Amino acid sequence: MLKKNTLISKIIQLSNELEDSLIFHKKSQYILKELGTLDFLSEVFEANLLDNLFLRKKWNSFDIPHLSIYTNDDIDLKYHIFLPPKSKNIEMASYLIHHHMEYTLSSYVFFGEGYHTIQFDKEITTNSDGTFNMKISKDFFHAYSGINILDSWCPHVIFNVSTTTATLVLWSKGNTPVMDVKKRGNYYPDKGNLNKIDEEEFIIEAKKEDNYIENSEKHIQAICYFMQEIGYKNNSFIKQILQSSDLPESWNKWLSFLVSGDYIDSPYFNEEINILKKHISISDIRNTCS
Ligand SMILES: [Fe+2]
Repeated sequence: MLKKNTLISKIIQLSNELEDSLIFHKKSQYILKELGTLDFLSEVFEANLLDNLFLRKKWNSFDIPHLSIYTNDDIDLKYHIFLPPKSKNIEMASYLIHHHMEYTLSSYVFFGEGYHTIQFDKEITTNSDGTFNMKISKDFFHAYSGINILDSWCPHVIFNVSTTTATLVLWSKGNTPVMDVKKRGNYYPDKGNLNKIDEEEFIIEAKKEDNYIENSEKHIQAICYFMQEIGYKNNSFIKQILQSSDLPESWNKWLSFLVSGDYIDSPYFNEEINILKKHISISDIRNTCS
């Protein structure tokens, strides 16, 4: 998808030329800035709508609503959409603390105010009682127009957004090979200690939630809401998509709003699924990891 786009081919070229993943991410920054425009986003949205796999995707409650831009064996480019929760509590984590194993991640906030985030050193030590220690390396508000690079194996946590926020994310395999922690773990502070839940167990627990939904229509609403919010308009294209006889019902419903211009409400996602009801505040993490 979009391989032939000049900016995407520049990123692919840089990724082929540069061995060092952090240098690759630094050198890609100026390109990322150019990928946050309405024109390019519109192109990506339309390319996604022409992809049957995307239209038929079953979204899980814990998935971040997203659009795929480009992916190969080395890199992955996506748009992520974050919506304010009903509570509007921006002091609360929206995900547990996690790292992305061997992948380096750049995120560029191209729409909305952004979110608070905390990052940690790669080294996670284990205590004799089975709890963990992490040291905070960065504690900041990832604001509009900022690009942040998260190194492979570095745990991070992000907090709720106050306004609809969209990021462009670039992943690539980092320099550090497999560390001793092979599985992606999720960590959370509890009574002054850091505990861990493995990824597989996290998914089992999340699926137990009453509000857990597969094939969530909310994700489709969220994407269409965001496209309307950012000012996307191409009625002739959307009408063409709507004519397809096998278009899934949810897409049919929400794409019709884009044509009619009727206002799409920002859906509320369950705030507790991704944090397994463990209300985690900025100060909880600061107090536990200081
Ligand atoms: Fe993450």
